[in-house]
Amino acid sequence: MDFLKLYFLCFIWYNYVQIQTEKSDEQCLTKFCSCSRKHSRARCNRLMYIPRVPSYVVVLELENNFLSHISMGTFRNVSNNNLTSLSFVNNSIEVFTADAFKELNYLRQLKISHETELNISSLKMSFQNVNKQRMQKMYFVNNGWTMLPLDFFSDFINYTLEKLSFGDNILRNFNSSQLSGFSEIHTLSVERNELVFLNSSGLHTIHNLVLISNNIFEIPNFCSDEAGQSLVPKLSRLDLKDNAIRKLGLSSFKCLENLRELILDENRILVLENDIFYRLTNLKTLFINRMPHLSTIKPTAFRCSSLEVLKFVQNEFHFESSKKNKTFSYDPSELFKHSPSLKKVDLTRNHMTNDPGIFRKIFYPLSNLTELNLQATYIRILPERLFQRMSFLKTLHLKGNRITTWNRRVFENLTSLRNLYMDGNYIRVINESSFPIPLLRSLESFDISQNKFWCTCAQKWFVDYLRSSNISKILKNWPKFYRCDYPEDKKDVLLMKYKPTDADCSTWSPIFTVIIVIVVSIFLVTVMLILMFNCQANIRNLIYLFRVIKQKRKGYIILNSSASFEYDAFVIYCDSDRQWVHLELLKHLEEMDLKVCIHHRDFDVGEHIIDNITKYVGKSWKVVVVMSNNFTKSEWCQWELDLVQERRRRHGKDALVLIMHSQIDSSHMTNSIRSLLDTTPHLRYQKGLGEDLFWSAITKAVRKPFKDPPTAIL
Ligand SMILES: *[C@@H]1O[C@H](CO)[C@@H](O)[C@H](O)[C@H]1NC(C)=O
Ligand SMILES: *[C@@H]1O[C@H](CO)[C@@H](O)[C@H](O)[C@H]1NC(C)=O
Ligand SMILES: *[C@@H]1O[C@H](CO)[C@@H](O)[C@H](O)[C@H]1NC(C)=O
Ligand SMILES: *[C@@H]1O[C@H](CO)[C@@H](O)[C@H](O)[C@H]1NC(C)=O
Ligand SMILES: *[C@@H]1O[C@H](CO)[C@@H](O)[C@H](O)[C@H]1NC(C)=O
Ligand SMILES: *[C@@H]1O[C@H](CO)[C@@H](O)[C@H](O)[C@H]1NC(C)=O
Ligand SMILES: *[C@@H]1O[C@H](CO)[C@@H](O)[C@H](O)[C@H]1NC(C)=O
Ligand SMILES: *[C@@H]1O[C@H](CO)[C@@H](O)[C@H](O)[C@H]1NC(C)=O
Ligand SMILES: *[C@@H]1O[C@H](CO)[C@@H](O)[C@H](O)[C@H]1NC(C)=O
Ligand SMILES: *[C@@H]1O[C@H](CO)[C@@H](O)[C@H](O)[C@H]1NC(C)=O
Ligand SMILES: *[C@@H]1O[C@H](CO)[C@@H](O)[C@H](O)[C@H]1NC(C)=O
Ligand SMILES: *[C@@H]1O[C@H](CO)[C@@H](O)[C@H](O)[C@H]1NC(C)=O
Repeated sequence: MDFLKLYFLCFIWYNYVQIQTEKSDEQCLTKFCSCSRKHSRARCNRLMYIPRVPSYVVVLELENNFLSHISMGTFRNVSNNNLTSLSFVNNSIEVFTADAFKELNYLRQLKISHETELNISSLKMSFQNVNKQRMQKMYFVNNGWTMLPLDFFSDFINYTLEKLSFGDNILRNFNSSQLSGFSEIHTLSVERNELVFLNSSGLHTIHNLVLISNNIFEIPNFCSDEAGQSLVPKLSRLDLKDNAIRKLGLSSFKCLENLRELILDENRILVLENDIFYRLTNLKTLFINRMPHLSTIKPTAFRCSSLEVLKFVQNEFHFESSKKNKTFSYDPSELFKHSPSLKKVDLTRNHMTNDPGIFRKIFYPLSNLTELNLQATYIRILPERLFQRMSFLKTLHLKGNRITTWNRRVFENLTSLRNLYMDGNYIRVINESSFPIPLLRSLESFDISQNKFWCTCAQKWFVDYLRSSNISKILKNWPKFYRCDYPEDKKDVLLMKYKPTDADCSTWSPIFTVIIVIVVSIFLVTVMLILMFNCQANIRNLIYLFRVIKQKRKGYIILNSSASFEYDAFVIYCDSDRQWVHLELLKHLEEMDLKVCIHHRDFDVGEHIIDNITKYVGKSWKVVVVMSNNFTKSEWCQWELDLVQERRRRHGKDALVLIMHSQIDSSHMTNSIRSLLDTTPHLRYQKGLGEDLFWSAITKAVRKPFKDPPTAIL
C-alpha cells in the first residue's frame, strides 16, 4: 500500500517537473510572441520593441509590429541570442541606421517584406555593417520597390550569396550590372515584378535565374556583343514561367551552354519552331506546361541530344491526328525522334491519339524512357508492341483516362516496370488476361482505384487473386477506393466485400438450361413443321398402311378372297397418266404377284368398250383408280369412275383403291370426286423418299379382304 502511494506521488511529481520544463522551454517571455524550441524560433507581433526571447531562439520573425527606426539598440534584448535569421514583415519600418546590423554577427538570412515606408538608401547604408561573410540569403520582397539605388550592393563586392530575391515588387528595370560585384549569387529571383526586358550583363555569377511572372516578351539576350561570348556562363537553371513570350526562334537560346533546366510554362507561344533548343547542349530538363495557345510543333522542335526530361503538361494539345485536325499540327514520327536521350516524358492533360499506329509512331524513338506520364490524356485504346520497346520503363502513369479494356499483350514482358498507375479509368473487370502474373509480382506500386468495377462473376479471378496473393500490399488506396459500380444492388459496395463462391459463379446457370430447352424445342417444332409440309403424303400413306395391317392382325377372315377372281385389280386411269401406270404401277404390282387388268393390254379386241369394262371389272377383285388433274378433266374417266361407284356401293369402300397420282386443283374438283375422296381413304403417290411405303401400302390395300369395318381417314 505504502509502496503504491509512493509510486503514485513519484509519478505526479515526475509529470509536474516535465510540464514545468516544457513550459519554460516553449513559453516566450511575452504573450506577444510565440516560440518553438523545435525550430529555435520566436515570432512576435503587435509590439513597439523587440522583447527578450528564450535563449534557444536564433530565428526571429517580427510581424505586424511598429518599429519605425531600427538601430543597433533595437536588438539589445536579443543581443545574446546570436540570431541567424531575421525577418521583418509589415513593421512600418522607415529607417535602418547604419549600425543596425553591427552586433548581429551570426546573421545568415535577412528578410524584409511588406515594409513599404522604408527608405531604401538607409537600408543600403546599413549594409556596411552586415557580416557579409556569413550572409547567405537576402529577401527584399513585397516592398513596393520600383527601382534600386545604383550602388545598392557596393558593399558586397567579392562576396557570395546563396539566394537574393526581389520578388513581389514593381521593378520595371533591373540593372543587373550592380550584381556584377558579387563573386557568386547562386539564385537570383526577380519573380512577380514588371520586368519587360532584362539586361544580363551583370549576371555572370548567377546559377539559377528566376523571372517568374513578369512581362518579358522575348528571351533575354545572354550573349555579350562580341558575338558568342556568354554573359551567363554559370547559368544552369532559367525559369521564365508566366511571362509574355510569344515567339521562340533559332537564336533565342544562344550562349546558354551550361543551361540544364529551362522552364517556359504559361507563356503565349503558338508555335514550337524547328531546332529552338538545339544549341542547349547541356539541357536536361525542359518544362513547357500550361500553354493553351500552342497549336503547332514543328518536326525538329525538340531536337536536343542531351534532353532527358520533358514536361509538356496541361497544354490541351491534340495529338489525335496531325492531318485531320487543322487546328493542331505535328509530325508523330518526328516528334521525339531527335531527342533520343529522353528518360522521362510527361504529357499529362493533353489529348493523346487513340490510333494505335500513331501512338506507336510518337513514342517509337523513346527506347530509353524510364518514366512515362500520360495522365488525363483521353486514352481509350492502349497500343500493343509499344511499352515493350521501352526496356527501362519503370513508371507508367495512365491515371484518369478512359481505358476499359486492352489486349493481354499490352503489358507482356515489361520486366522493368515497377510502378503502374491506372486509377480513375473505366476499367470494369480485371481477369487473368489483364496483367501477366510476372508483372503483378514485380510491381512495387500499383494503383487501379476508382475504376468502374463490376461485381459480377467476371471479377471473380481478381477478387480471388487479391486474397490469395500479396498484391493488396502494393495496391494504392486499397480497399477504400475500390468499389462496385455495377450491378445496381451492389453499387458502392467495397470490392473487398464482394466474395463470389464457386457455386455462385458456376458457368452452368439454370437460365442456360431454360434457354437451351426453348431453343431446342423451337428447332424441333420447326423441323417437324418442315417435315410435315414436305412429307404430308408419306404420313398419310403410312397411316393408311398402318390401318390396313392393323385390321389384318385383328384376324379378319378372308370371306371373299381374290382367288375367286381372274384379276386382282382393274386399273382406271386417264390417258395422260398412261406412262406412269405402265412403267411404275404395273411393274410394282406385278412384281408382287398381283394380276392386274388394264384396258390397253387386256381388253378383248372388237368388243364394245363399255362391255369390256363391265366384263373385266366384274373379273377383278379390286378397282384401282389413278386420279390426277387430267383425270378430272377427262369425261371418259369420269364416266369410268361413275361405273365403279356402283361397285363401291355394293362391296363397300374397300372395293376401291384410290391413288392420288398428282394433287387435284380445287378448280377441277367435281362434286362426285369430292364426295368420293371425302368418304374413301386414298393413297398419294410420292416419288423418292417414301416411295417404297407407297408401293407397299398399295399392295396391302389390293390384297386386303372385304367386309372390314369402315376406316375413316381423310
Ligand atoms: C526590452 O524588453 C523590455 C520588456 O521585456 C522592454 O520594456 C524594453 O523596451 C526592451 N528594450 C529594447 C531596447 O527594446
Ligand atoms: C500590417 O500591420 C498593420 C498593423 O501594424 C495591420 O493593420 C495591417 O493589416 C498589416 N498588413 C498586412 C498586409 O499584414
Ligand atoms: C553566442 O556566441 C558567443 C560567442 O560565439 C557564445 O559565447 C555564446 O554562448 C553564444 N550564445 C548563445 C545563446 O548560444
Ligand atoms: C533616406 O535616407 C538617406 C540616408 O539615410 C537620407 O539621405 C535621405 O534623405 C532619406 N530620404 C528620405 C526620403 O527620407
Ligand atoms: C575583389 O577581388 C579581386 C580579385 O580577387 C581583387 O582584385 C579586388 O580588389 C577585390 N575587390 C574588393 C573591393 O575587395
Ligand atoms: C546600371 O548600373 C551601372 C553601375 O552599377 C551603371 O553604370 C549603369 O549606367 C546602369 N545602367 C542603367 C541602364 O541604369
Ligand atoms: C546592358 O548593360 C550594360 C552595362 O550597363 C550596357 O553596356 C549595355 O549596353 C546594356 N545592354 C543593353 C542591350 O541595353
Ligand atoms: C480539332 O481541334 C479542335 C480544337 O480544340 C477540337 O475541338 C476538335 O475536336 C479537333 N478535331 C479532331 C478531329 O480531332
Ligand atoms: C539510351 O541511352 C544510352 C546512354 O544512356 C545511349 O547510349 C543510347 O544511345 C540511348 N538510346 C538511344 C536510342 O538514343
Ligand atoms: C514476350 O516474350 C515472349 C518470349 O520471349 C515472346 O514470345 C512474346 O511474343 C513476347 N510478347 C510480347 C507482347 O512482346
Ligand atoms: C477478361 O475480361 C475481358 C473484358 O473485360 C474479356 O474480354 C476477356 O475475355 C476476359 N478474359 C478471360 C480470360 O476471362
Ligand atoms: C507474401 O509475402 C510473404 C513475405 O512477404 C511471402 O512469404 C509469401 O510467400 C507471399 N505470398 C504470396 C502468395 O506471394
